[in-house]
Amino acid sequence: MKVEEWIAELADVERELSVRLANAQDVSQVEDVRVWALGRKAGRVTSLMRRLRDLAPEDRPRAGDAVNSAKVRIERALDGPIVGSGNRQPTLPAIDVTLPGRRPPRGSLHPLTQVRRRIEEIFVGLGFRIEQGPEIEDEHHNFEALNTPADHPARDMQDTFYLSGHFLLRTQTSPVQIRLMETSRPPIRAIMPGRVFRRDSDATHSPMFHQVEGLLVDSGVTMAHLKGALMSFLTAFFGEGTRARFRPSFFPFTEPSAEVDIACVLCMGAGCRVCKGSGWLEVLGCGMVDPEVFRAVGYDPESVTGYAFGMGIERLTMLRYAIDDMRLLFENDHRFLEQF
Ligand code: PHE
Repeated sequence: MKVEEWIAELADVERELSVRLANAQDVSQVEDVRVWALGRKAGRVTSLMRRLRDLAPEDRPRAGDAVNSAKVRIERALDGPIVGSGNRQPTLPAIDVTLPGRRPPRGSLHPLTQVRRRIEEIFVGLGFRIEQGPEIEDEHHNFEALNTPADHPARDMQDTFYLSGHFLLRTQTSPVQIRLMETSRPPIRAIMPGRVFRRDSDATHSPMFHQVEGLLVDSGVTMAHLKGALMSFLTAFFGEGTRARFRPSFFPFTEPSAEVDIACVLCMGAGCRVCKGSGWLEVLGCGMVDPEVFRAVGYDPESVTGYAFGMGIERLTMLRYAIDDMRLLFENDHRFLEQF
């Protein structure tokens, strides 16, 4: 066989290959073209190479070079994008730069953050400022100035994490009331969100949780103002028509003191497992600032009056979203958090 014929046949194969490739509609048809050209048994290029030995020995290098470079071109063509009519699917090695990018998954705010922000938004709307105080406190601010001396039975109500010296992890946000009054003069209207710590841990208690404290000091403040502000808050937070009751209670730093209950969010007051049959759920503590507290910060209790309140963010979050185990709020399981 003449080398010219052999090379012409190779050129025919390449021409036919480009026609076949142009007609290939998808990856599997491209694969068929590959087998047609390069298949180990009956591939057209393969059989041409088998017939190299029919050529004169001195012609074989030329033919060998020709077929090697043809093979490179063929393989490149087979790996390229499919250009066949109506087809937009590339073969694997090709990159379709027109595909849209992958969007990174979108995160969301932790439910406790969402609830804290909602509480802040409502009180800011009522004219309150947002203040903060330290998580490491001293006994004076956390207890003494709040009318809770060392032998006071109320200290047992809050199992305290003590640090060295007279320092401790604050058990409540109420010490921020003291710090605010120590550094400013009435009128005061502020809420104070933050972390608090108590030696307590079960389905409804966590050793670290969050409170929002509220303090309003001015002249002529009455319990009616307290009730009005808190009802505005509860209605905004839990919805129009929320029923609440003010139940007499005790805190060392308020007199009189009350706890506020709302009608159970699950049974609407009929009595169920969540409200333990009472129909009511406690949501916060409050009262009129005790004259002893005013004295501790150098205010004259004869000329200023005020109210204070404190609420647990976890508790409000659990009621708002019907969560029955506080630990869910701290485990950071995305399957839980993604629902908010
Ligand atoms: N500090 C109280 C508590 O942690 C709540 C409270 C704050 C009560 C302000 C009255 C006034 O239980």
